[in-house]
Amino acid sequence: MSGFIPRTFVNELLARVDIVDVIERRLALKKTGKNYSACCPFHNEKTPSFSVSPDKQFFHCFGCGISGNAVGFIMEYDGQGFVESVETLAQDMGIEVVYEENQAPKQDPIKHLFPVMQQVSNYYQQQLKSNPQAKIAVEYLKKRGLSGQIAKQYGIGYAPDGWQNLIQLSIPSEDLEKDLIDSGMLIKNDKGRVYDRFRDRIMFPIRNRRGQTIGFGGRIIDQGEPKYLNSPETRLFHKGSELYGLYEMRQQRQKIEKILVVEGYMDVVALAQFGIQNAAATLGTATSSEHLNSLFRICPTIVLCFDGDKAGKKAAIRAIENALSLLKDTREIRIMFLPDGEDPDSMVRKIGTDAFNQGVNEAITLFDFLIQHLTSQVDMNTFEGPAKLVHLALPFSRAIVDPILKTRFDHQLSLLSGVSEQQIQSILQKDQPAQQPAISKAPVPTRHSPQSNNVAHKSISPDRNKETTKQKGPFRRAICLLLQNPEALPAANLDWVKSLDDPGAKIFSKLCQLILQNEAVTTGMLIENWRDQPEETALKRLANQDLLLNDEQIAAELPDLLAQLEKSLLLEQWDNLIAKSKLQPLSAQEKQQLKSLQSQIATRG
Ligand code: GTP
Ligand code: MN
Repeated sequence: MSGFIPRTFVNELLARVDIVDVIERRLALKKTGKNYSACCPFHNEKTPSFSVSPDKQFFHCFGCGISGNAVGFIMEYDGQGFVESVETLAQDMGIEVVYEENQAPKQDPIKHLFPVMQQVSNYYQQQLKSNPQAKIAVEYLKKRGLSGQIAKQYGIGYAPDGWQNLIQLSIPSEDLEKDLIDSGMLIKNDKGRVYDRFRDRIMFPIRNRRGQTIGFGGRIIDQGEPKYLNSPETRLFHKGSELYGLYEMRQQRQKIEKILVVEGYMDVVALAQFGIQNAAATLGTATSSEHLNSLFRICPTIVLCFDGDKAGKKAAIRAIENALSLLKDTREIRIMFLPDGEDPDSMVRKIGTDAFNQGVNEAITLFDFLIQHLTSQVDMNTFEGPAKLVHLALPFSRAIVDPILKTRFDHQLSLLSGVSEQQIQSILQKDQPAQQPAISKAPVPTRHSPQSNNVAHKSISPDRNKETTKQKGPFRRAICLLLQNPEALPAANLDWVKSLDDPGAKIFSKLCQLILQNEAVTTGMLIENWRDQPEETALKRLANQDLLLNDEQIAAELPDLLAQLEKSLLLEQWDNLIAKSKLQPLSAQEKQQLKSLQSQIATRG
């Protein structure tokens, strides 16, 4: 378990929260029989396959396979860490979190910074309205066509001139100067002097998924250098994974069909002003796979917007390199190139909403662009051209993980080059070992695994997981039954389980112990005790297995099953010891064990 919250506290907390409440606060749920359902918030779908069981205190999506308890839901949905999620849950319930003894009373390393950032953002917004200095800023924003309403929606503000504005604010904090430095709002120079980072700038707050302000972009008014000043990397703010405007987009509460990724703050805001509310901006970095992953969680189509110039094409290729491994046949990336010298902001002003939207709809798909880009680099009319094309395309082919897309791409490549698909496959495999170490630090594949190139490696691992969970231990069924219906634990003496040297028996034994030690035990709470453990995935699968039994049937099956198990396992141990005794004398301990087995078997008839 991460952090310093004792497991017992988490178990108690999970016994008191209702997962339906927790999820309903964030998502509209519909009662369907015993359970509740919704469209899955973690993948895009039209018919609901996300189900919440109040009995199990567990959620599960039949579509994407994600499952977990109330803590797990908050971690996923709010994008929080374990400790934070437990704290959120506890706070909602009005329960004080108990931290591990001996640990210094733990101040969450970042939580206290959020209210400070919020106050700073409020201050900037209020300055934009009331500070006489801000007049030029307001004029500038108007000149750029922004309405007061959009400025408000995006929380745009003004950082007044001056070096010591923020420290003078009456923001409740144990150490305001430290908090402002930690959140990147103040700079401490070599001489130890501390001053405001943002001065006389228009301020764009950058908010996370929950709407908490985690950083700012500050634009100079009109001309000047640097045009934009951004918050530095802090514990709150990570440029590589955050997108500007995502929170505001989701606040619209409209169905998001596709997301437009643009470069600038002003692009997002200007598009919103023109009624295009589905744009988000990377923060001066290339579109990373982290960005794309969080966007694909919201919708299946992403349109990347670039300048039509050479730099724009280059940026597009970089984005493609980051995207290929994430693409599936259900996900789509398109690329929209704007005319030279235009950005989405200038473009939408020039051509208007409808024409801009049409451009978005006509954006070229990633693969079409990639093929176009590759063929444009060679002369296809020469003998060598098509061969060179294969050479250029191989690294891209290798990066595609989705088998259907990969087959399509290789097929297309084969058609264009006249090199057979088989041949392409064999080149892909042959080239790989020499190249792989340069690309990643993954272990160099052995000679016995000709297929272990990057792609094969990635697509193999899920199957490997499957294999481990498929190994059917004798306790599998019992674990499944007990996990889904903890009340069915029979009153029988289960001490014999403890002595077994079987991984399933160990899990079963721990389950029994947890059920006996805790009140109001649910599936969700039990699973919690294996968080981040190797068994977690397998247990979740068992928790979600459809048993087609009602509670009474489960309660009836379990004692019989255990009695059978006990007998067969006792007999097995007995047999083993007897077999051993024929080869060598048994130790004193083994003799003792044999005796005890004998009497146990005898009492069971
Ligand atoms: P406007 O000129 O106001 O229209 O800006 P823009 O929104 O069109 O931004 P631009 O395309 O010039 O830049 C895109 C993004 O790159 C900005 O939103 C910033 O995140 C970043 N950026 C731009 N200029 C600078 C700069 O001078 N310094 C830094 N650090 N980042 C910048
Ligand atoms: Mn611009």
